[in-house]
Amino acid sequence: MKAIVCTKYGPPEVLQLKEVEKPTPKDNEVLIKIFATTVTSGDMRMRSFKVPPLPWLPMRIIMGFRGPRKKIFGTDLAGEIESVGKDVKLFKKGDQIFGSTGGFGAHAEYVCLSEEEVLAIKPTNMTYEDAAAVFFAGHTALHFLRKGNIQSGQKVLIYGASGAVGTFAVQLARYFGAEVIGVCSTTNLEMVKSLGADKVIDYTKKDFTKSGETYDIIFDTVGKSPFSGCVKSLKKKGFYLRAVHMTLSPIVRGLWTSMTSSKKVIGGVATEHKEDLIFLKELIEAGKIKPVIDRRYLLEQIAEAHGYVEKGHKRGNVVITL
Ligand SMILES: NC(=O)c1ccc[n+]([C@@H]2O[C@H](COP(=O)([O-])OP(=O)(O)OC[C@H]3O[C@@H](n4cnc5c(N)ncnc54)[C@H](OP(=O)(O)O)[C@@H]3O)[C@@H](O)[C@H]2O)c1
Repeated sequence: MKAIVCTKYGPPEVLQLKEVEKPTPKDNEVLIKIFATTVTSGDMRMRSFKVPPLPWLPMRIIMGFRGPRKKIFGTDLAGEIESVGKDVKLFKKGDQIFGSTGGFGAHAEYVCLSEEEVLAIKPTNMTYEDAAAVFFAGHTALHFLRKGNIQSGQKVLIYGASGAVGTFAVQLARYFGAEVIGVCSTTNLEMVKSLGADKVIDYTKKDFTKSGETYDIIFDTVGKSPFSGCVKSLKKKGFYLRAVHMTLSPIVRGLWTSMTSSKKVIGGVATEHKEDLIFLKELIEAGKIKPVIDRRYLLEQIAEAHGYVEKGHKRGNVVITL
């Protein structure tokens, strides 16, 4: 089968289209023929390995020193079950599914996954391309908004509202009944409004932390908001959520803020749960949320897709079709 193989860290050109052995499902596994996947900012970061000094060593130990131990990237997927192992009960041949590989393997024509992985029948009202753009960003947004204990009627600011996580965060915050303020650049103001933001702020023209407004939740999806300004702009018992929290300084300042005030700073990794995929699927089928797709590329063009994601200005998701 065709797969995109990454044998060393580096620029997008390290990614190579190769012929590799098609996997065979174990007794508890399904073999999925992949029709669509995404290139996420996480894939881009694993390939480039531009990691700050603090997590550099632990991440190299986990990922592989000279090059990635797991050489086929790709988390999101949508496709069809081609065959199942003898103990599989949840899926059958021909099922149209979507979900997550858990981190690796979707940038290929086929992958084998345990039926217990984060997989579900694809929403009825979606193409494979749309379905592939749901889980990674959608569950991250959901994870952090829940960590912030989001409640109806709260004032919630989404910083980086035009990215993959941001576009889901705007829609989910709206679904939870919050008043949503989206922060993005001029070109994305209309798009973020169309997703349900009550108000949009152009970060190229205005620093929202200087307006004197306060919020129950500030969710920074891109790691570029000013730390102390955000903490100051929280209401009492407010949450500052940071999807990107990798350097020492925000971790220490976050712990200090959480220990010395009623405000909480939360970072960390969004863990994957099958129930979250089902929850997102139900919202999609009810017409409450939808993925935003910026560009589409073929599997063979994945280096180009990585180059685009690396610029840091994609609107929503970048999808790969097979
Ligand atoms: N903690 C976790 O478990 C977890 C899970 C998933 C992802 N993440 C992390 O979350 C981050 C976001 O991922 P993503 O895929 O959503 O990112 P993304 O789609 O690549 O973000 C791109 C967006 O960021 C906006 N942006 C760039 N600079 C900005 C700035 N200074 N202020 C406001 N917005 C700005 C861009 O808008 P403009 O073009 O308008 O500037 C663009 O729409 C990544 O770093 C990823 O690694 C963390």
